[in-house]
Amino acid sequence: MKFLKLLILLFTIPIFSQQGGMWIPSLLKGMNETEMKNLGMKMTAEDIYDVNKSSLKDAIVHFNGGCTSEIISNQGLILTNHHCGYDAIQSHSSVEHDYLQDGFWAKTKQAELPNPGMVATLIVSINDVTTQVLEGVASLSSEAEKQKKIQENITKVQNTFAKESWQEAKIRTFYEGNQYILFVTETFKDIRLVGAPPSSIGKFGSDTDNWVWPRHTGDFSIFRIYANKDNKPAEYATDNIPYTPKHFLPISIDGISEDDFTLVFGFPGRTQEYLPSFAVEQLVNTLNPAKIEIRDAALKVQDGFMRKDKAIKIQYASKYASVANYWKKWIGEKQGLEKSNALKIKQDFEAEFSKRVDKAGKSKEYGTLLSDFKESYTKINDYALARDYFNEVVLRNTELLSFGFQLYQLEQIFNARGEQAFTDRKQNALLRFEDAYKDFNPTVDERVFEQLMRLYSTKSPFIPASLKSEDITTLAKTIYSNSKLTSYKGVQELLEGDSKVVMEQLNNDKGYQLVKLLADYYAANVAGTYNELNLKINALQREYMKAQLELFPDARFFPDANSTLRVTYGKVKGYSPSDAVYYQPVTHLEGIIEKYVPGDYEFDVPAKLIELYNTKDYGIYGENGKMPVCFIGTNHTTGGNSGSPAIDASGNLIGLNFDRVWEGTMSDIHYDPSICRNIMVDIRYVLFIVDKYANATNLIEEMKLVHPKNSTKKSKKKR
Ligand code: ARG
Ligand code: ASP
Repeated sequence: MKFLKLLILLFTIPIFSQQGGMWIPSLLKGMNETEMKNLGMKMTAEDIYDVNKSSLKDAIVHFNGGCTSEIISNQGLILTNHHCGYDAIQSHSSVEHDYLQDGFWAKTKQAELPNPGMVATLIVSINDVTTQVLEGVASLSSEAEKQKKIQENITKVQNTFAKESWQEAKIRTFYEGNQYILFVTETFKDIRLVGAPPSSIGKFGSDTDNWVWPRHTGDFSIFRIYANKDNKPAEYATDNIPYTPKHFLPISIDGISEDDFTLVFGFPGRTQEYLPSFAVEQLVNTLNPAKIEIRDAALKVQDGFMRKDKAIKIQYASKYASVANYWKKWIGEKQGLEKSNALKIKQDFEAEFSKRVDKAGKSKEYGTLLSDFKESYTKINDYALARDYFNEVVLRNTELLSFGFQLYQLEQIFNARGEQAFTDRKQNALLRFEDAYKDFNPTVDERVFEQLMRLYSTKSPFIPASLKSEDITTLAKTIYSNSKLTSYKGVQELLEGDSKVVMEQLNNDKGYQLVKLLADYYAANVAGTYNELNLKINALQREYMKAQLELFPDARFFPDANSTLRVTYGKVKGYSPSDAVYYQPVTHLEGIIEKYVPGDYEFDVPAKLIELYNTKDYGIYGENGKMPVCFIGTNHTTGGNSGSPAIDASGNLIGLNFDRVWEGTMSDIHYDPSICRNIMVDIRYVLFIVDKYANATNLIEEMKLVHPKNSTKKSKKKR
């Protein structure tokens, strides 16, 4: 009986199932390779990652720090999502040349558009440096001392690790501080926009369909990496040349079927799969609801303006999309955690954990971990909530306040480091402001301010007393009609003169005064305690992870995502989200026509696409008279995996990852293999749009199309 119970427990705890996980590419040999082969993979672990010869990893590119992209030609052509290129596409757009609305296609290399500040990073090698980083740490007693030593070691190892002059070395922690890995990287700085479909294809379904299956979004855009004459990273220059990669992905046009093997290779940002139940409870019941409410208010205001005014729509498109994205995700995450019984599963796991601690005679080391967690999470509750309010209201969603905060930091720098540091930072700040104010509308922001400050002043557990009695509408009016922070010109004026003059001007500004009040109060009453408690929680989490690895030696523990290169694998698979409902794994152009609402801002369809549908002009990309659009699989992905390649059993590109399904958005905290699915654009739809819709045959010619399923002769792959 007891055995049976344990067995049931083991099968209901997802970390023990044979699915899910984001694995380190250099450590696939063994369990992962076996699992992948069982799923149908024909490659070896070395085909995926090899330091000595070219491998798949040489085609995987961290796109501008946040997304993933992959190299698809021998001339540095990279493919990523439309939503990852969105900011760049927007910045080249105006009411006259609206590339968001109409799409953009460079028919020659000269027509490709540079993007100042954009970067693309390749991974050269992955090296375990745990021993070096933890040297001399165990003997230290306080957590603060340990962290300081670790930081020193990290700096030392990063600075001394052997690499070429144009490369960088970065160390990241894995398993919550139990393992340290160093990445040698190459970062390219001349990245040009090559192609993007109109938003009615690349963002089809917009926020209504975001995080939802069935999906019909052609979420892709195309860029190119440029290098100097030696094929090395260089700043933008007209005579830079297209980068010649060590490897690029051939593209399979054979299509996919349910149960086909899929591998997603990219840079997942952050997961928290090993949180204790107390943390999950706090997230679901306290933190997420507060953040949802704040963003809900901001979005409603912006949406109202965007629907009425085309210029505002362009100005706010990118900002709105990114605020809306996590707003919606948090809603789905809360529902998913509840529906999948995440809390109960965590609690059952904790009960089993405690038993094992006793049985292994480890009570002295691990016996109080869970009660310590409970105590710390209770203590941190109000500080964490106040922090979220500050972050969401001041730093993230009210632009005037966030601009003001950057100036506040400038004043701090002046106080700490003096005139020269101040002058250097001032120049950078001005450049950033010039860009940011292009997309700023004070009328919209004033309404946002009003809504958000009202929430802040009534709901945050820590707030300056003077604010509590303030009439928010009057405050908004006073600030937005007096503060120089409402325009770029105003900020330039504020920053004119030497530091003494600037400080005076800042401190006389009504908007700045409010920011300073909020930021000073936050620093004095929230940040310190929060950081102290958080340090304690991180130390507990490190011990908890160590204990789990020790006490469940056969479990399949993967390290939480941390924006480093990972492999996740699975297969093409439908799912059943609720009783009597089953979702098939592939969508088609038919579905776009079904969703079509003429003139709608989310579901309009370009005339040309309708025509291609009517004439069934799908070329070599269709299948049985239909045009596949998106598909889902059991790959465990998260934010940052957007733009990641979906790769077939032999290493060819079959899709482009861009999202997850609604019922599975809780996968960052609790991965449930029965309903967690990632969403990919079928690569044939991408090619169809490039070729038949945009006539950008110049790009198709650059790529290497293969038929791995149909014939091995035709598709002789060189790797
Ligand atoms: N949900 C996807 C991801 O997290 C796609 C986001 C695109 N943005 C949007 N607001 N539709 O990035
Ligand atoms: N859409 C996400 C991204 O941008 C991917 C995800 O969260 O599943 O990275």
